[in-house]
Amino acid sequence: MEWMGLNEIREKYLSFFESKGHLRLPSFSLVPQGDKSLLLINAGMAPLKKYFTGELTPPRKRVTTCQKCIRTPDIERVGITARHGTYFEMLGNFSFGDYFKQEATHWAWEFCTEVMKMPKDKLFVSVYLDDDEAYDIWTKDIGVAPDHMVRLGKEDNFWEHGAGPCGPCSEIYFDRGEKYGSPDCKVGCDCDRYVEFWNLVFTQFENDGNGNYTRLKNCNIDTGMGLERLACIMQGVDNLFEVDTVQNIMKHVIDIAGVKYHDNEKNDVSLRVITDHIRSTTFMIGDGVMPSNEGRGYVLRRLLRRAARHGRLLGIKGTFLYKVCETVIRENADAYPNLVEKHDLIVKVIKAEEESFNKTIDTGLTVLENLIATSGSKQLSGADAFKLQDTFGFPIDLTKELLAEKGMTVDVAEYDRLYA
Ligand code: SER
Repeated sequence: MEWMGLNEIREKYLSFFESKGHLRLPSFSLVPQGDKSLLLINAGMAPLKKYFTGELTPPRKRVTTCQKCIRTPDIERVGITARHGTYFEMLGNFSFGDYFKQEATHWAWEFCTEVMKMPKDKLFVSVYLDDDEAYDIWTKDIGVAPDHMVRLGKEDNFWEHGAGPCGPCSEIYFDRGEKYGSPDCKVGCDCDRYVEFWNLVFTQFENDGNGNYTRLKNCNIDTGMGLERLACIMQGVDNLFEVDTVQNIMKHVIDIAGVKYHDNEKNDVSLRVITDHIRSTTFMIGDGVMPSNEGRGYVLRRLLRRAARHGRLLGIKGTFLYKVCETVIRENADAYPNLVEKHDLIVKVIKAEEESFNKTIDTGLTVLENLIATSGSKQLSGADAFKLQDTFGFPIDLTKELLAEKGMTVDVAEYDRLYA
């Protein structure tokens, strides 16, 4: 296996599936179009739902994309671990009523073993409990050894995200070796040894959003592979922050802050927060999201302000995120030309948001520290949290996070009443 850059991996994947008759489409916007069930696109298949259900006719029955995705349920974990991130790219090949399990599994194997040249004995595969058809394709047709196969239940091997098309799936794992897991860890456990990097979904049901499943007229294929995860494997690194293009973004932050990565854990957390959040926010603004106090705009504001606060923790004075976004744009310019077109807007929006937060952040932090020091209780009042938001621009989630660091909470009910 040879080291391969993230941009090269993306290109190799898309051109491989073009060679299998797929139409290459550019990434869709992070802002879902005509889908109220999602705030932000969180999977490669999300913008394609109407092709799966048959509501719209796809431009071709075989499509391949590299989709920008944002997942936000774990924002407060991002940085603290090196595993979590909000922004990632998902590679996918899709069949809308065309090929099904046979081709999807064969091509996945061919891509891994012949294009990426992964050693076969490092690859493990899971299938849904009773999916004998997939099990047989992997073991009998492709030749995966039974001791490299596992059957997993609904939690792991049935894919659905809110309402829409869904189905049983089969996942491919890369074994990073014994040193990454405990001696008894196995495929499917939450360890760092077996990295799940490709999910082949055999989309055959439609979930109406209330857990009612109906069979889709056509069987479809929806595969999703985390580009950064694949890059980790191909570059022999432990996590997304060590991947080449992401490292370059972190290096820019390191230059500005004058610190080192892997020098002390507190700085590392801040470096990861900023690196991740500047990626997602640059792409969000490129797709037309503006900072605000609700919906997507709130997510953007929260990410930018969280990153700005971590800049403070690193000792950076003044605005800096608007400079780092230049590296995000540069690293992604070939794959995402719209970032280059929107360059001036992105820089302007980030700078304006940083400037407005910077005016109040220090006073706000002092106010909050005083409140924490003088509070007789473990809970901050809703009125104080509201004041921090209204006067000092602290998104409630940032206040919650700062308090959690001191073992405190917020009276959210009172805050909600005041905010309503
Ligand atoms: N929809 C599946 C996922 O997001 C495969 O693309 O994992």
